Amino acid sequence: AAGTKGGIERTFIAIKPDGVQRGLVAEVINRFERKGYKLVGIKAIVPSKELAEEHYGDLKARPFYKGLVNYMTSGRAPVIAMVWEGPDVIRQGRRIIGATNPLDAEPGSIRGDYTISVGRNAIHGSDSFESATIEIGLWFKPTEVFDWKFTHEEWII
Ligand code: PPS
Repeated sequence: AAGTKGGIERTFIAIKPDGVQRGLVAEVINRFERKGYKLVGIKAIVPSKELAEEHYGDLKARPFYKGLVNYMTSGRAPVIAMVWEGPDVIRQGRRIIGATNPLDAEPGSIRGDYTISVGRNAIHGSDSFESATIEIGLWFKPTEVFDWKFTHEEWII
């Protein structure tokens, strides 16, 4: 079942406001979709300060924390929050996205291809099974995440 560690997993992927402003929404979705992953939740949302602070709670002591929260919550563009499902999607999602610092991200990854600044790196992806579970629960109600089947599932899984 989806949500099992090491099997069919779910991960939280968010296109940040700079990625939305730069018109990268379709490009991001395309990269996950064509790989074979399944979009089981999606919404546009301007997160509250509380939500952004909780999401980045681990980074509270960092000098960039306040700026990061302000940027995510500014409303200059929404965040596109998504839940993607499939085999090893947490780890593979991080590979598709590329290294946190775009200057370390491989060409071919989203950050490697489209970004140059760690403070404006276009996209977020959960870094572990534990954080995926927490982040999906933070950003989505259970009724906003859908179980559905690809008609071609037998060809890709
Ligand atoms: S850590 O703890 O150093 O490993 O943190 P890291 O994984 O590198 O980054 C965690 C998130 O913080 C964002 N980040 C920044 N935002 C704004 N400005 C600066 N300078 C900055 N440095 C790191 C980084 O993009 C990560 O965000 P997410 O959304 O999780 O990718």
